[in-house]
Amino acid sequence: MEDKKVTIVEVGPRDGLQTEKKFVETASKIKLVDMLGTCGFKRIEATSFVSPRWVPQMADASELMAGINRHPGVTYSVLTPNLRAFEGAVAARADEVAIFASASESFSQKNINCRIAESLDRFRPVIAAAKDAGIPVRGYVSCIVVCPYEGPIAPDIVARVTADMMALGCHEVSLGDTVGQGHPETIAAMLDAVLSVAPADRLAGHYHDTNGRAIENIEVSLDRGLRVFDSAIAGLGGCPYAPGAEGNVDTCKVDALMRKLGFDTGLIPERLVDAANFAVGLR
Ligand code: HMG
Ligand code: MG
Repeated sequence: MEDKKVTIVEVGPRDGLQTEKKFVETASKIKLVDMLGTCGFKRIEATSFVSPRWVPQMADASELMAGINRHPGVTYSVLTPNLRAFEGAVAARADEVAIFASASESFSQKNINCRIAESLDRFRPVIAAAKDAGIPVRGYVSCIVVCPYEGPIAPDIVARVTADMMALGCHEVSLGDTVGQGHPETIAAMLDAVLSVAPADRLAGHYHDTNGRAIENIEVSLDRGLRVFDSAIAGLGGCPYAPGAEGNVDTCKVDALMRKLGFDTGLIPERLVDAANFAVGLR
């Protein structure tokens, strides 16, 4: 029965909103997170503690975390690329933090201003501090099949960076098809490489839906044993440093797929629809 459970990590408030050009009022972001909190999610990625020059939309991370109404049983996670971010996350009482690396050197440079190896060095003190504070750390690996600057990325590079993130101490690595150019064949080849270094129960699929293939990509990932998938309410989002990236796969579509396949997500469809309607109004 355990095998029939799937966890959907709602990343809309962070990955969904971070690219919105017009600043979304903090009160509206708080309302979105609060609505999502009642949908049955166990995990919500709420915001990022990053440079406001790099991602202006996430400049209100502390205010957002202070304003949300924490729903019992929900883990509220935030992105923390460096120690300063981690300190902000602790002050904001984040339940989980996430560090984010890339399988592409060019994307790493554009997104977090350093090479892959340097990013791992920057994450080391974050992980150490999180361990001391008893806060779990999620890892992301971006550009798992295609980089917007370099084109196709070899599966063994994705496997290597995933192994590095696991070795650093991430409890889970979320595999990001940042620009949504993956399709079932390339996702399967990537997963076959990654599964040689990490078990399926420590991996998550994070598929943007630029080409409308994300649902099929989730299906091949389910076949390979993955049971955690990231999605964004109303398919919001993209990445500010990934030109051409569309939103994450729509949470309602993923939930519908899981129901069809007999997986239990614990989500309440009517509440998801309310949250999606509200999210659409924020754009
Ligand atoms: P840097 O230039 O190497 O670092 O940037 P720095 O320490 O020299 O700092 C640069 C500036 O940022 C300074 O301010 C710092 O004070 C400030 P300035 O002098 O320019 O005024 N700063 C900070 N401000 C607030 N909070 C902080 C912080 N740290 C430094 N924590 C840095 C490195 C990581 C900070 C920068 O590159 C950055 O913020 N990048 C943002 C990247 C980002 O958020 N991208 C989107 C999320 S990743 C994503 O979407 C992909 C994912 O969804 C998976 C997928 O789809 O593939 C996860
Ligand atoms: Mg993303």
